[in-house]
Amino acid sequence: MRRLSGAAFLLYFLITLLSPSDGADTLTLDHPLADDGERLISEGGNFALGFFSPTGSDSRYIGIWYNKISVFTVVWVANRQRPVTGSHGSLSVAANGTLVITGENSTAVWSSPSRALSNPVAQLLDDGNFVVREADGNPSDPNSFAWQSFDYPTDTLLPGMKLGWNLTTGFNRQLTPWTNASDPAPGEDTFGIDLRGDPQIFEWSGTRAVWRAGPWNGLQFTGVPQMTSYNKFSFQFFVDATQVVYAFHMIDASLVSRLFVNHSGTVERLVWVKDRKLWNPLWSNPNDLCDTISPCGPNAVCDTSKAPRCGCPQGFQPKNPTNWGFNDGSDGCVRKTGVDCRNGTDGFAVVSGAKLPDTSSSTVEWVGTTLDQCRAKCLKNCSCTAYAQANISGSGSGCILWSTNLTDMRVYGSGGQDLYVRAAAADLDSETSHHRIYLTVITVILALFILILALVGCRAWRRKKRSRGSMSGMATSFTERHNDEGTDAKDLDLPLFDLGALADATGNFSIESKLGEGGFGPVYKGKLEDEQEIAVKRLSETSVQGVDEFKNEVVLIAKLQHRNLVRLLGCCIQGEERMLIYEYMPNGSLDSFLFDKAKGWLLNWPTRYSIIVGIARGLLYLHQDSRLRIIHRDLKASNILLDMHMNPKISDFGMARIFGGDETEVNTKRVVGTYGYMSPEYAMDGIFSVKSDVFSFGVLVLEIISGKKNRGIYDSSRSLNLLGYTWSLWREGKGLELVDEAIGDSYPKAEVLRCMKVGLLCVQERPEDRPTMSAVMLMLGSDSALLPQPRQPGFVAMRGPLEPDSSASKQDSLSINNVTITMFEEFCLLVAHAKKRPLPLTLV
Ligand SMILES: *[C@@H]1O[C@H](CO)[C@@H](O)[C@H](O)[C@H]1NC(C)=O
Ligand SMILES: *[C@@H]1O[C@H](CO)[C@@H](O)[C@H](O)[C@H]1NC(C)=O
Ligand SMILES: *[C@@H]1O[C@H](CO)[C@@H](O)[C@H](O)[C@H]1NC(C)=O
Ligand SMILES: *[C@@H]1O[C@H](CO)[C@@H](O)[C@H](O)[C@H]1NC(C)=O
Ligand SMILES: *[C@@H]1O[C@H](CO)[C@@H](O)[C@H](O)[C@H]1NC(C)=O
Ligand SMILES: *[C@@H]1O[C@H](CO)[C@@H](O)[C@H](O)[C@H]1NC(C)=O
Ligand SMILES: *[C@@H]1O[C@H](CO)[C@@H](O)[C@H](O)[C@H]1NC(C)=O
Ligand SMILES: *[C@@H]1O[C@H](CO)[C@@H](O)[C@H](O)[C@H]1NC(C)=O
Ligand SMILES: *[C@@H]1O[C@H](CO)[C@@H](O)[C@H](O)[C@H]1NC(C)=O
Repeated sequence: MRRLSGAAFLLYFLITLLSPSDGADTLTLDHPLADDGERLISEGGNFALGFFSPTGSDSRYIGIWYNKISVFTVVWVANRQRPVTGSHGSLSVAANGTLVITGENSTAVWSSPSRALSNPVAQLLDDGNFVVREADGNPSDPNSFAWQSFDYPTDTLLPGMKLGWNLTTGFNRQLTPWTNASDPAPGEDTFGIDLRGDPQIFEWSGTRAVWRAGPWNGLQFTGVPQMTSYNKFSFQFFVDATQVVYAFHMIDASLVSRLFVNHSGTVERLVWVKDRKLWNPLWSNPNDLCDTISPCGPNAVCDTSKAPRCGCPQGFQPKNPTNWGFNDGSDGCVRKTGVDCRNGTDGFAVVSGAKLPDTSSSTVEWVGTTLDQCRAKCLKNCSCTAYAQANISGSGSGCILWSTNLTDMRVYGSGGQDLYVRAAAADLDSETSHHRIYLTVITVILALFILILALVGCRAWRRKKRSRGSMSGMATSFTERHNDEGTDAKDLDLPLFDLGALADATGNFSIESKLGEGGFGPVYKGKLEDEQEIAVKRLSETSVQGVDEFKNEVVLIAKLQHRNLVRLLGCCIQGEERMLIYEYMPNGSLDSFLFDKAKGWLLNWPTRYSIIVGIARGLLYLHQDSRLRIIHRDLKASNILLDMHMNPKISDFGMARIFGGDETEVNTKRVVGTYGYMSPEYAMDGIFSVKSDVFSFGVLVLEIISGKKNRGIYDSSRSLNLLGYTWSLWREGKGLELVDEAIGDSYPKAEVLRCMKVGLLCVQERPEDRPTMSAVMLMLGSDSALLPQPRQPGFVAMRGPLEPDSSASKQDSLSINNVTITMFEEFCLLVAHAKKRPLPLTLV
């Protein structure tokens, strides 16, 4: 007995002695890796391999993890189902070319398939691949690998790894998540490629498909239109006789990214954000309510921008109209008229911006066929139900034909492709003629409506003119205005949320759910019982000044509805607590992208341009198109939120002011806003008007183009801020030097220069020189040469000491708001009543 343990000790001693020293990247025959904290480190230091225990478990696994990333992130596990449980373990490469993990009593718990090699070594490469090869082989030649971990992915796809099939051998690579955070054994889900029809990427739970990325269309998977906007990645999909595989590579090598199936079965594309030390999900599935498998039943089209979401293509009608009435489209659609195949009179209804329906029983031709030939083919075959282009890259080519009911169809706001659905000629004709009739009727009604409006407007104007003089020129506060309008205001549905429900939704306002700190209190992320994600702004109890802003915000935003303004879902007032509930913006605020080196590249020029236009639209609405004239007063990058599709939404109306119809400017003693965005006349004399918002907008445009904050010094000899710096570049004709490096080189120069010119026009010193937002909208769409030449901006140099970057306020205790009777109290009374009534409360 004693001898035995002596032998074991000797063995252990020998193993320890002969082990590779920490930091080597290669295992050789006589140098196993022991389970004592020893690791292999890849040559460039990117990855490490060794024994680890998942959190909450004592079991030992061989894994590969990022070596340079501060959050321990395992990307591969060898013995997923066979952990080493005893005290001793080791990983060795055996003479027959297998990798073996031995546990206690030298029992092998895991081994890789063997391959005859004369002198095998195992090496951890810098891309995270662990390979077995001949000692004298070439580590950069994949064909020399007898075995590689990249062929046995676990839950992570790294750059350069392949997902999918080797058709010669029938070998398939799929991702499977961990069972849970403490058990790497494969969970139920699999993520991989389905070879039937036109090959598609699916996620299955067991054998049931739960999500479909769909076929590759030359640019992206049809179910992931965001892919085309990720310009620092290159995505590849190979289909030929030997393989069907998907892989991605990083164009920007400094960026660390992975595709990951987390243990709740969500597929995420994550990017490491160095500054914030976290993995940021760029994208995850399912992305929205139309993203589940077949959200609407056969032949129906799901569209998140419509209510109800499910609809039928032209020539189809709901199969079960009663259920559709109840917003359940799961029965799908059926043809109004059978197709007339023999006579060849059928036509096609176009579904634009579509995610192609399931292609698992379609036929596909990748090359040669044009769209017209594809159409002819479909018309000729009586069983063909739809067709589409197989490859939309370049001028487009190829042909996919469906011969079944069309399932899992949806449309996108942008990034989808055209699908042509066969329909009977009679249905296509009658619908167009119906449309024509509708159009005529609508035009007539509209004309009448406008006429009536004009008459009413005229009378009101005359009456107003008569009663002029009784009103002062001051801006009425929101409450008075509100009362003015009380009689004609449209009813507002403003749901009241229960404090308990909000506490549940936000994990009792836990630190983890906190999104950030707004001007007047923290903002939390929450998820309601119906899975809807919300942002909860909790007014801090200590914030005395915040109460005004709160009531301001509630009444104001409840009235504003625009796609470029953040939407208020409701509010909560209970005891001392005051909260505002907004729709949740998954991409956070613009400044977190714009001024962050790690994320700036995510905003390519088309995205930035659409953000500029979106903000302009939102502001135009505030200034002009909404029923009230509103001046935001605190427009800045951190108040622009981005939704899933990077659409900008203006937020934070705590400082906004409502203007009377006639006023153009107002003088206030209480200057609020953010330094760097404030116009000179407002910051110095307290005069604000729509033109002070235009100034802030101009600063924002220049920041979006340059990726730099206005409050910084960009030419130290002249202590120029961004405005001054832009102005000096512009005058020297070197405007393009301002453009953010993160945009890259391929952007439309004329468009960028036009935006820069518009930005400069907006920040001119004299308010009367600055354009209005409606002029800005026109300018953004017109030829640069037609725009006026900008004059010198206000505030070209930094003045005085740097103020903190938060919303600052040069406050005078005598604020205009004090005079007002408090509409807020009235509001609270209503709320108190509402508690006894069913929700939602109607605020008149
Ligand atoms: C290879 O060698 C190891 C250790 O000697 C042994 O455990 C394993 O069974 C061998 N595999 C094959 C396929 O011979
Ligand atoms: C190792 O051997 C001991 C004694 O034979 C036995 O009790 C123990 O269960 C073995 N451990 C494993 C993991 O097989
Ligand atoms: C498929 O596997 C075989 C055997 O491992 C290999 O020789 C071949 O190169 C693989 N094909 C592709 C396309 O990777
Ligand atoms: C993880 O899964 C294993 C096996 O299914 C189970 O025994 C264990 O309790 C789970 N752990 C947690 C933390 O859920
Ligand atoms: C999986 O990812 C989704 C989306 O990012 C996230 O909401 C969810 O909490 C994650 N689940 C786990 C267990 O991490
Ligand atoms: C084909 O056209 C003929 C006459 O034009 C018509 O009588 C017949 O019903 C049509 N066939 C079908 C299948 O609709
Ligand atoms: C029509 O389409 C079906 C299904 O794609 C196919 O099986 C059949 O061969 C086609 N018929 C002709 C004549 O091309
Ligand atoms: C799609 O078309 C583009 C441009 O014509 C071509 O480069 C690409 O190889 C095609 N993709 C496939 C999968 O055939
Ligand atoms: C399409 O669905 C209908 C019922 O929804 C069914 O009767 C029909 O057989 C299906 N057609 C095909 C080609 O699968």
